[in-house]
Order: sequence, then C-alpha cells, then structure tokens
Amino acid sequence: MAHLVSELSLPDLDVVGLERQEAIAAIEAARSVHWLARNELGYTVTRLQDVTAILRDQRFHSALSMIEQSPEFGASSYGGERRQSILTMEGEGHARLRRLVAPAFTPASANRLRPTMRKVVGELVGRVVDQGECELVADVCEPYPIPIICELLGAPPEDWKLFSAWATDIFRIFNNNLAEDLPLIERAGEELTAYVSDLIAERRADPRDDLLSDLIAIEQDGDRLSTDEMAMLAQAVLMAGTDTTRNQLACSVALFTEHPDQWALLAEQPELATRAVEESMRYLGAVRGTARFASEDVVYRDVLFPQGTLVVTSLAGANRDPEAFDDPNVFDITAERGTAQMTFGSGIHFCMGAALARAELQEALPLLARRMPGLARNGDIEWKPSSFGIWGPSRLPLRFGPA
Ligand code: HEM
Repeated sequence: MAHLVSELSLPDLDVVGLERQEAIAAIEAARSVHWLARNELGYTVTRLQDVTAILRDQRFHSALSMIEQSPEFGASSYGGERRQSILTMEGEGHARLRRLVAPAFTPASANRLRPTMRKVVGELVGRVVDQGECELVADVCEPYPIPIICELLGAPPEDWKLFSAWATDIFRIFNNNLAEDLPLIERAGEELTAYVSDLIAERRADPRDDLLSDLIAIEQDGDRLSTDEMAMLAQAVLMAGTDTTRNQLACSVALFTEHPDQWALLAEQPELATRAVEESMRYLGAVRGTARFASEDVVYRDVLFPQGTLVVTSLAGANRDPEAFDDPNVFDITAERGTAQMTFGSGIHFCMGAALARAELQEALPLLARRMPGLARNGDIEWKPSSFGIWGPSRLPLRFGPA
C-alpha cells in the first residue's frame, strides 16, 4: 500500500529568502536525506530523475492554472475558458496546439533571427564599450529580447516600447496583488490582442517571413489555428520569452564574473558558445523551479499525493544532481556533459521557445566576451528576491577593458 505523503517523515526545504549559495546548500542537504522534501505549500523534488518524471506525468497539471482559477481572475474578462494560455492547458487541447505550432519553433526558424539578434545586441554593447563600464541589466539585458520578439511576430521594430509596456503589465499576474493589478493586466491583454489581431489580418492579406504568417499558413489534416488562438500564442511568446531570456543573460554573465578565465576562453573560442549557454543555464538558471498539482490522487514511487497536492520540481536541484552530472558544482564551459540541463523544463510544457532562447544567448555571450575583455564586477550584484519565479540580477555593475 502506498504511503500517504503527509505522513512521511521528510526534510523541510524552504528556499524563499535564501541567498543563491544558501539555496543550493539547502537543496543538497534535503536531497541527501530523501528524494522528497516538504515546503511551505506542499512538497519539492530535487533529483533530476524525479523532476523529469513528475514533469512528464500528465496526472500532474501546471500550477500556473491555479492563478487562472482564482476567484478574482475567473470573474474578469481576462479569465475563463476563452483565455486559457498554452502554459496552463493540458491534455489533447494542449497537444493539438503544440503539434500545430511546432514547425514555427524549430532551430531553423530561430536561426532566421540570428542576424537581428547580432544587430540588436551589437548596438546595445556598442553604446557602452567605450565607457569601460556599464550596468548590464539596464544597458543590455532588459532591452535585448523585445525587439527580437517583435521581429519574430513581424511587428515593426519601433513598436517595441508598446510590447515592453504590455509585458510589464501582464507580468503583474505574478506580483500577488491581483485585486489591484487586474485592471492593468486586463487592459494590457486586450490591447495586445487587438494589436496582434490587426497584424494577423494584415498578414492574411499579405504573408511575410514571420511567425504570424507561419501560424496562419499552418494546416494539419484540415485543422488550423483560430485568430484567438494565434493572439493567445503571441501573448504567451511575449510573456514567456522576454523576462526569461533577459534574466538568463544576466545570470550567465554574473557567473562569468566569477570565472574570468572562462570568459577569456569564450572570447578566443566563440565556437564554445553552445556549451557556454548550456553550462551557465545548468549552473545558474533563471527559472529555478516550476510547480505542479496532482489533478487526481496520484501514486508515485509508492507515495500517495492526494488530489490538489502541490509539488515543486526544483530545476536548480536537478541541475546540480550528482547522480546526473559529474562534478555538478564545477562550472566548466569545456566539459562534455552527457545529460541535458533542465532550465527549460521537461514534458509537455517543455519550453516552446528553447531554440530561440538558445540562439539569443549563443549570439550574445561570445559577442559580450569579445567586446568586454577583462570583465569584473564594479560593485555589488543585486539579485531579485528569491521568491521570483523568473529570477536573476536586478543590478549587474561591470567594468571591463584591455585585460
Ligand atoms: C533562457 C530563456 C528561457 C527559459 C529559461 C525558459 C524556461 C521555460 C520553462 C522552464 C518552461 C516550462 C514551464 C513549466 O513547465 O511550468 C517554459 C515554457 C514556455 N516557454 Fe520558455 N524559457 C525561455 C525562453 C523562452 C522564449 C524565448 C520563448 C518564446 C519564443 C518561450 C516560450 C515558452 C512557452 C510558449 C512556454 C509554454 C509551453 C507550454 O506550456 O507548452 N520561452 N519556458
């Protein structure tokens, strides 16, 4: 008979409020005692094998849908069935969308945008290199992803400020202040949908080489995406694709300030970019965990998780699991790691924009390494509160110059 999870004797694991290294140490301590730990709201798994298994187990559903189901949210024009996002859909509806959009999110589609990525990041860096110092978050990381998403969707580059403002307001969903923020979130969602719907109408009449034209053209066995679905996808791409990438870039560069020899190596050997991206995402990922809840009574590893139980999958824990990675606490961009890093998640919700994000980081990191030799911190790095789901430095003051 399975053991009821609440009756197990488990280590406690609450990483909220902990510094970066403390959080890793707490995860390691809990993992050495048991594969499962107790947190304030439910349970946490920290080993790669369990993180992957739970993310692939469709009896566990995305906990983001709990926000959509909250009373304030459901009553608003923003909530409800019509508005459900790909991030929170499950089952056949979700599988159908992923099937339809998959051709638009391949590495080849991401590669189309590499010249734009190089241009955008090159211009941002160009503005600061002569000063020999910068605050990387405001100067490079923040402004980098939105022009790329504009280009991806096919929106004119001068509209990036509109997208930036919509993204900021829609992100208020995660600020735990829905009662006050909901009008702003709703307005941003409505404006974005109206904007994208107009763009879709234009592309229907005059297709181009962009995501919306691709999505319009997609047809499988007579199935097509509706305008509403395309607008939802555009919103999901804007939301899931901006804050993640900018935080990951800042995390990766912050990490390199602790490893100047590897920064120099990357400048000399830009072909190490792919490994540098994977290794820095493994060692210091901007998404450190994601949550699921049991949609029914679930027995996993002989433990019963009653319906509604919340399970956090620690991507940061999985990324440092000694059973999955040799020397997990060593950062080495030349290491051949046989296991894939977990910062893009796993299972049906595996990051849809992974190829795009990888391309953005692969373009940015070697360019920064080449143009900012002798990189060093120019003051303290300030980190976002550890409770943030998408996390990284809020200030990253740097100096650089001839080594
Ligand atoms: C380094 C940057 C990024 C990181 C670390 C990241 C991470 C993640 C993670 C962990 C998930 C799964 C969440 C879960 O299982 O609960 C996810 C989903 C998703 N990501 Fe990303 N992401 C990044 C960039 C992007 C970009 C650039 C795009 C846009 C093209 C994007 C679009 C999405 C979408 C649409 C989903 C939802 C997929 C689904 O639910 O089926 N992401 N991402």
